[in-house]
Amino acid sequence: GFSWTLPDHPKLPKGKPVAVVVLDGWGEANPDQYNCIHVAQTPVMDSLKNGAPEKWRLVKAHGTAVGLPSDDDMGNSEVGHNALGAGRIFAQGFFAKLVDQALASGKIYEGDGFNYIKESFENGALHLIGLLSDDAVHSRLDQLQLLLKGASERGAKRIRVHILTDGRDVLDGSSVGFVETLENDLSQLRGKGLDAQIASGGGRMYVTMDRYENDWGVVKRGWDAQVLGEAPYKFTSALEAVKTLRAEPNANDQYLPPFVIVDDSGKSVGPVLDGDAVVTVNFRADRMVMLAKALEYADFDKFDRVRVPKIRYAGMLRYDGELKLPSVYLVSPPEIDRTSGEYLVKNGIRTFACRQFFVIWADTSMLIAGYWFDVCRDMFFFLGETVKFGHVTFFWNGNCSGYFDETKEEYVEVPSDSGITFNVAPKMKALEIAEKARDALLSGKFDQVHVNLPNGDMVGHTGDIEATVVACKAADEAVKIILDAVEQVGGIYLVTADHGNAEDMVKRNKSANPLLDKNGGIQILTSHTLQPVPVAIGGPGLHPGVKFRTDIQTPGLANVTATVMNLHGFEAPSDYETTLIEVSDNSVPANCD
Ligand code: 3PG
Ligand code: CO
Repeated sequence: GFSWTLPDHPKLPKGKPVAVVVLDGWGEANPDQYNCIHVAQTPVMDSLKNGAPEKWRLVKAHGTAVGLPSDDDMGNSEVGHNALGAGRIFAQGFFAKLVDQALASGKIYEGDGFNYIKESFENGALHLIGLLSDDAVHSRLDQLQLLLKGASERGAKRIRVHILTDGRDVLDGSSVGFVETLENDLSQLRGKGLDAQIASGGGRMYVTMDRYENDWGVVKRGWDAQVLGEAPYKFTSALEAVKTLRAEPNANDQYLPPFVIVDDSGKSVGPVLDGDAVVTVNFRADRMVMLAKALEYADFDKFDRVRVPKIRYAGMLRYDGELKLPSVYLVSPPEIDRTSGEYLVKNGIRTFACRQFFVIWADTSMLIAGYWFDVCRDMFFFLGETVKFGHVTFFWNGNCSGYFDETKEEYVEVPSDSGITFNVAPKMKALEIAEKARDALLSGKFDQVHVNLPNGDMVGHTGDIEATVVACKAADEAVKIILDAVEQVGGIYLVTADHGNAEDMVKRNKSANPLLDKNGGIQILTSHTLQPVPVAIGGPGLHPGVKFRTDIQTPGLANVTATVMNLHGFEAPSDYETTLIEVSDNSVPANCD
């Protein structure tokens, strides 16, 4: 039968403190002027790379290796942290693929979710709210197009689309083309007698798509435009809106202000009214779950909703398995079970009796996160950076926001700056995070210190090359502080990344040369990349015979999980992706203590 007990590793001891450092958005690419990691002074990461070849290697962090539909799909924090936490690649693929399959087979229209919203089609409007993008990170334009077509063929007569412009996972400026494509589809529907139009919009980072409750003001701006039909800017066409707002100085797709589309009499064309149906079309959860709460919860005090229409609401997927939110959804997400965090907690209790397990998950933007687990005191303490808080809890733990064992866990969140773009503060909280990690290691109480350094990703997304160089240097300095502490306590480190970003800041053609825009400037790449990421191991506590295996052809992030379990002295569960390390036979085993 199934057991949570992990077998002892035959050669590796338990009890060595392990620091797991995840650099967010830190890939490996050719050294040139657009590789911010190369340009920045990163002596610590350089020394890992140029050290013993059996202690540093690359793993895949994009495409099918992390469960994405194709190898053209860049990595992202959701799939990266899912893989790092779960140690397996889910054969079902991830969310984009599930939605694709449901749309292609038509199953999406047979499910309870669609039947529920369909009830509104006779007398109400169907509102579709989501990110307008063709990159498969949060949503995909072609899925929205298919859903529009499918809903119109199944009785929807009045359709309103509320767009959020991207420029973060795709090139800045691409919003214009996406709006054109969508407008074209909607006009075809109008040609068939439907009343279909774009009703509101705004840039994703300023309107609606906040995450981890960092800034409810962002969601409120979206609510006002989408639900109430109120916004500071009014236009009669979405294309005109996007073109006009983009022409403002320093404007970009990520941060466009909210706007509503009005009719000839100046009235908003698409507020959400009693009897309407609403679908949030993003498949990725982190940046939709706040809106889902505002749309679904009867008791809600995060901002004044002013008017709460009686609607039928469904998510493209269920965004939070623990909260069961939304209660209605169009496509069932895969269940990611038996994550490494749960195994370690369960085995920690048995194996590290009267010891503590400490994890700092400090990630990409706003809170400092960490957590410790004290077996004797039955406590798990969690501390993390808000904007990536859920990456190292929710995503890491298989898209569940709750505790593994409420009696033994406690999550604490420390809020951080909000309302800024990270190119103005590219060092972010790297130093504070590293110091907390160092203190945790030096205290001698903890078996694991887990750090996620956000700089490369959050600053890389701004497209500001100079700031990203500063960000990479800050992350490298943070790694130094942590590795110094590992050295002092005789511990082990594993340094890796969840996907690439800062190592390539320019859009390239097939021969990898930078692409230029109309004015002869380079086309800045704000998004993630297809690059592999490093994995480095070491530290005085590492058994001297440990080295990377050479027999695994193209490992990915999921192989890191079993590796970490080995460093704790455990064998990984048999269905986890294989470990990256082996222990040479002729080495002297380290002392077990
Ligand atoms: C975001 O949500 O910020 C980007 O779309 C993806 O970035 P992440 O996968 O690093 O969170
Ligand atoms: Co990112």
